[in-house]
Amino acid sequence: MATVAYEHVSKRFGETVALVDFSLEIADGEFITVLGPSGCGKSTLLRLTAGLERLSAGTICVGGGRIDDLSPSERNVAMVFQNYALYPHMTVRRNIEFPLRMRRLARGERRRQAEQAAALLELSDYLERRPAELSGGQRQRVALARALVRQPALFLMDEPLSNLDARLRAGVRQYIRDVQRRLHVTTLYVTHDQTEAMTLGDRIVVMQRGRIQQVDAPVAIYERPANTFVAGFIGSPPMNLLPSVYSDGVLDIGGQRLPAPPGLRDRLTRQTRELTIGIRPEAFVPTLPDMTRALIAVPHAATMEITGAETLVRGHVGPCEVTMRLGGVRREIPDRLATSLDQAHVFGDTGERLTP
Ligand SMILES: Nc1ncnc2c1ncn2[C@@H]1O[C@H](COP(=O)(O)OP(=O)(O)OP(=O)(O)O)[C@@H](O)[C@H]1O
Ligand SMILES: [Mg+2]
Repeated sequence: MATVAYEHVSKRFGETVALVDFSLEIADGEFITVLGPSGCGKSTLLRLTAGLERLSAGTICVGGGRIDDLSPSERNVAMVFQNYALYPHMTVRRNIEFPLRMRRLARGERRRQAEQAAALLELSDYLERRPAELSGGQRQRVALARALVRQPALFLMDEPLSNLDARLRAGVRQYIRDVQRRLHVTTLYVTHDQTEAMTLGDRIVVMQRGRIQQVDAPVAIYERPANTFVAGFIGSPPMNLLPSVYSDGVLDIGGQRLPAPPGLRDRLTRQTRELTIGIRPEAFVPTLPDMTRALIAVPHAATMEITGAETLVRGHVGPCEVTMRLGGVRREIPDRLATSLDQAHVFGDTGERLTP
């Protein structure tokens, strides 16, 4: 159990910069999910932490002590990979016992600890099977059990569920969360699945091109994305991002001219600015009590997608396509859908959030 502190960590592979000035403090027992598109540096972050790669700059401390110059085996960190990496010729029992064997623990003690971890992960009935005789979810649990018996200060998980089907994923996800809570082991969990990031993490680190974009609680990331990248990355379907021009207290959004929300005017120093207006699909409703600050989307040539729980309608605000989400099954496309500008997220010309 431990705190983790990254200070100005960077990693280069020749010309490629995989991680840039990464700084983050993680509390003891915290569950951090690391989210971002392919190639943004997620695995690099874990590999640096586990000692599988060397830092180009910066420091990593676990429990207050520097670990970045220690060998992997000295770090007391357990990593679970996407492909589980179980030993195919060993039984589940021997797979789980393996790290204890490496540590030369006595046989009885190995047995006891492996059986305890297996029980925790509901694997007691499978101890004498080999990995090939298990389902994907069970194999994943064996990999977790093997990591658990090491009693690491830190758990590192790199997309551990990506090989599982949707139903299993949901089950094992819940499992990982429960086990992590019970054992209170500080955890870094890499994913590019935003549902996983949102449901598992105490905090989410959103990354792009090796840089942190935002670190916050899941709900805060959803409600107050720090920039247009995070706004467009979190949420499914994603937030609508509409180009807009601000001038003299008025916003022009796709040809609609609306008074800018009061808080926004004070924040804009220049008279005229290009902005991006972000609106979540679920912010649209058939009518609003106060239409003076309303942005109307007319779904001309609109398409509908009905998933059962919701109906997605695509329409336009001027030339911009917008996606709107209505709850439940709708059989007809509404004539028009509106949203209040007070609900909009406003971003500046470099993509930074301007609304409080
Ligand atoms: N050993 C290496 N040599 C050279 N470049 C590397 C090496 N490892 C990673 N990179 C590069 O560093 C960047 C970050 O890679 P990383 O594996 O951390 O991405 P990722 O976020 O885990 O992506 P994914 O979601 O696809 O797994 C990428 O541009 C990648 O090509
Ligand atoms: Mg990766």
